[in-house]
Amino acid sequence: MKTLIISGSPRKNGDSMTLVNEMKKYLEGEVRVIHTYYSNISPCVDCRYCWYNVGCDIKDEMQEVYQLLNEVDNVIIASPLHFSGLTGKLLSFASRLQLFYVSRRIRKDDSFPLRKKNGVLVISAGGDTRDFECSSKTANLIFRQMNAKLIGSVSTVHTNEIPAKDDIEALAKAQELALKLNELNNLS
Ligand SMILES: Cc1cc2nc3c(=O)[nH]c(=O)nc-3n(C[C@H](O)[C@H](O)[C@H](O)COP(=O)(O)O)c2cc1C
Repeated sequence: MKTLIISGSPRKNGDSMTLVNEMKKYLEGEVRVIHTYYSNISPCVDCRYCWYNVGCDIKDEMQEVYQLLNEVDNVIIASPLHFSGLTGKLLSFASRLQLFYVSRRIRKDDSFPLRKKNGVLVISAGGDTRDFECSSKTANLIFRQMNAKLIGSVSTVHTNEIPAKDDIEALAKAQELALKLNELNNLS
């Protein structure tokens, strides 16, 4: 089983990564983490190369991510809330997934398949859960671009008072979701 984790947090050992690391303890197989804040991945500049060609013209680390997206069984998106949404760096990363939409809808190229996978969303918030609507909606769009089916999500809230490492409920949920991913992959 292969899992790709995309972190939208600037904090490599922050709340989102605490939950991700809890999942990593239980996930079977290979796990790869992309820290969007520290990767060489530029945003889409709408050059429209992908309207007429297979792939993306920007030759950076995203080229490897495109390959990984065709190999992995699971994808986990982890992000803190910034201004009630996913972080700018995560959205910048996600903009590069536009070529999958373009190949399907504009080039109508069915020979550019993307492996089906399971998805999990991890969200951290300094405030409360009322902020989640916007980030969940955007995350769903990103999962759809990656051909991932969301199988669950875990969140930790009020992290200003209780950091994720002390959020027993969220840690348990992270463990549960990792075990669910193992189970789903063993069934298929
Ligand atoms: C620029 C910025 C904007 C933020 N906006 C929100 C927000 O809108 N709602 C919220 O609940 N927390 C907000 N926070 C707090 C973070 O979501 C919170 O500290 C989170 O636990 C950090 O997760 P991380 O350690 O994984 O980066 C913001 C933090 C920063 C730095």
